[in-house]
Amino acid sequence: MSTTMTEQLKKGLEDVVAGTTSICTINPDNENLLYRGYSAVELSEKTNFEEVIHLLVEGRLPKKRELKRLTKLLIQERKLPKPLIKLLKNIPQTANPMDVLRTAVSYMGALDESKQLSIEDIKQLSYSIMAKLPFALMSWYHFSKNQDLPKVSKQLSYAGRFLQLVTGVEPDSFDEKVINASFILYAEHELNASTFCARVTASTLSDIYSAITSGIGTLKGPLHGGANEAAMNLILKFKDPQEAEAGIIDMLNRKEKIMGFGHRVYKRKDSRSDVMKKYSHELAVKKGNLKLFEIAERIEKTVKERKGLFSNADFYSALAYYLLGIPIPLDTPIFVLSRTSGWSAHIIEQLSDNKLIRPRAIYQGPPPREVPSIERR
Ligand code: COA
Repeated sequence: MSTTMTEQLKKGLEDVVAGTTSICTINPDNENLLYRGYSAVELSEKTNFEEVIHLLVEGRLPKKRELKRLTKLLIQERKLPKPLIKLLKNIPQTANPMDVLRTAVSYMGALDESKQLSIEDIKQLSYSIMAKLPFALMSWYHFSKNQDLPKVSKQLSYAGRFLQLVTGVEPDSFDEKVINASFILYAEHELNASTFCARVTASTLSDIYSAITSGIGTLKGPLHGGANEAAMNLILKFKDPQEAEAGIIDMLNRKEKIMGFGHRVYKRKDSRSDVMKKYSHELAVKKGNLKLFEIAERIEKTVKERKGLFSNADFYSALAYYLLGIPIPLDTPIFVLSRTSGWSAHIIEQLSDNKLIRPRAIYQGPPPREVPSIERR
């Protein structure tokens, strides 16, 4: 083992620079998240998710006619191939929805015979995958409960249509605004674990389906995308803010992790959390029931005071989804539907200037030795 290698080792690749990107960064001065130079928070207030998809994949915000074209494409391409529908009908109700999404993308790849694709073809495939994913997920979800897939209103945005697919009810403009903002805030985040995985897969010159499948498998874990579901289950454990405070202190004393708090990159705040906190408060007021919001706020205050940690994007997103009537097991899948735009942009960026991603490891196993015969083992 060379000394330089040991010196370079950073467990979990913490703070290691593993590439260049023009897609996304975190402004070091104020820790604001930027998509191609635009604040993600500002985008969540002023644009719809389709515009952000265009920004990430094409590299710029769309003009009116480009947005119209992309919006139409995302509606047209939603139709699922028959064999995929058949497969989805066979996945049991007990399956984890993240496994359903991973299987669906993988199967879409098995059905697609296209080869030797140009960057332009890959962009079109990414739009096709983004169009199909909400329908694949919600088809399985409703089929497995013997329910019909709700019809969607075509005048709704991508995020609004998804909400209608879940609840069966056309969302009002406020609910649509909240889900749209959440889709935008989850869309992209530099070299997070799942994006890194998607880029590693793309760097071997594998296909986009395999790269997105890698991303989904990585996002599933509770230290990454799975944190939103864990956060909501935590909020629901307490009956009031006092109980929440005592419960959180207990958990911290037992050195347990509080899901929805802390971040590898942010040190002071996660700007996405403030937006989702504001929306979850407004949703709670609209419903006329502030109890869950008050519990969440007390958890936030206690973790901040006791551990100095801030809530990340997952904490209040989870509460907003709950108040929108979205079942908890669909929280991390929403992250997939949104992040597929970021993964696609990274896969395309990787392929546009590819070099195989293949790091080294410091060996800690036995020294070189002879293979003993089977009798001597
Ligand atoms: N709850 C309690 N303690 C936490 C914590 C949390 N959510 N996040 C970090 N810490 C503590 C660790 O216990 C550790 O304390 P120690 O030094 O006393 O042992 C210290 O902070 C560093 O944490 P570590 O897990 O090593 O940092 P990391 O950079 O590897 O982890 C996360 C980043 C996101 C994985 C981590 O903050 C976490 O597990 N958060 C909860 C899961 C989550 O919300 N994930 C979504 C991220 S967007």
